[in-house]
Amino acid sequence: MTDVWRHNSHYHRLLLKAMPPNCGSALDIGCGSGLLTRKIAERCPDVTGIDRSAEMIRQATETGGGAKYVQTDIHDWAEGPYDFVTSVAVIHHMDFETGLKAHADLVRPGGTLAVLGLARDDVPKDLPLALTGMACSFVLNWINNGSPRYPPEQPGMPMIMPELTWAQVRERTRKVLPGAVFRRHLLWRYSIIFTKAIE
Ligand SMILES: C[S@@+](CC[C@H](N)C(=O)[O-])C[C@H]1O[C@@H](n2cnc3c(N)ncnc32)[C@H](O)[C@@H]1O
Repeated sequence: MTDVWRHNSHYHRLLLKAMPPNCGSALDIGCGSGLLTRKIAERCPDVTGIDRSAEMIRQATETGGGAKYVQTDIHDWAEGPYDFVTSVAVIHHMDFETGLKAHADLVRPGGTLAVLGLARDDVPKDLPLALTGMACSFVLNWINNGSPRYPPEQPGMPMIMPELTWAQVRERTRKVLPGAVFRRHLLWRYSIIFTKAIE
């Protein structure tokens, strides 16, 4: 259940590539059952996963993998800063601008923020890319999971649909984090990579 191919895990490698060399500390915000958190812990000695869902923290802790897990809301988290801060499919659960700023505030100067997020299609403008994504998803799912059926989500995982469109997320990212690299990807995801300047 935890190691199946999904749209989020397809982009884990991209996020891990943004990890600073000799990363000493990392925070995975909205870690869920700890899928990415465990991968970060293979390369970084001090990794924390936080999530406001008690059930997700229970599942992550039960699976283990070298990270520590804490049940909390990002807006109440006062530890840090960290060399590497990540979140996957989380930021659309909060006000985007406040949430992105809260993510960036947890990054140490010289450290990196890597966000993977979801946005809403603005139809018909976004339809061609969405349909291309659907075809790619079908093929990749079959190759990686050996079935035409996309796997069900982790039981108990809090999920909501994104409200902001791709264009709105891009524009707000520019406003909150000038210099961040925003990229839209084919499997209904965007990434934001931001390295905080050393003052
Ligand atoms: C769709 S799940 C993604 C989980 C995980 N990142 C993954 O990729 O499997 C979104 C997670 O974000 C958590 N979350 C949402 N808002 C949060 C907040 N303000 N602070 C901490 N966690 C939050 C939810 O509890 C949920 O576990």
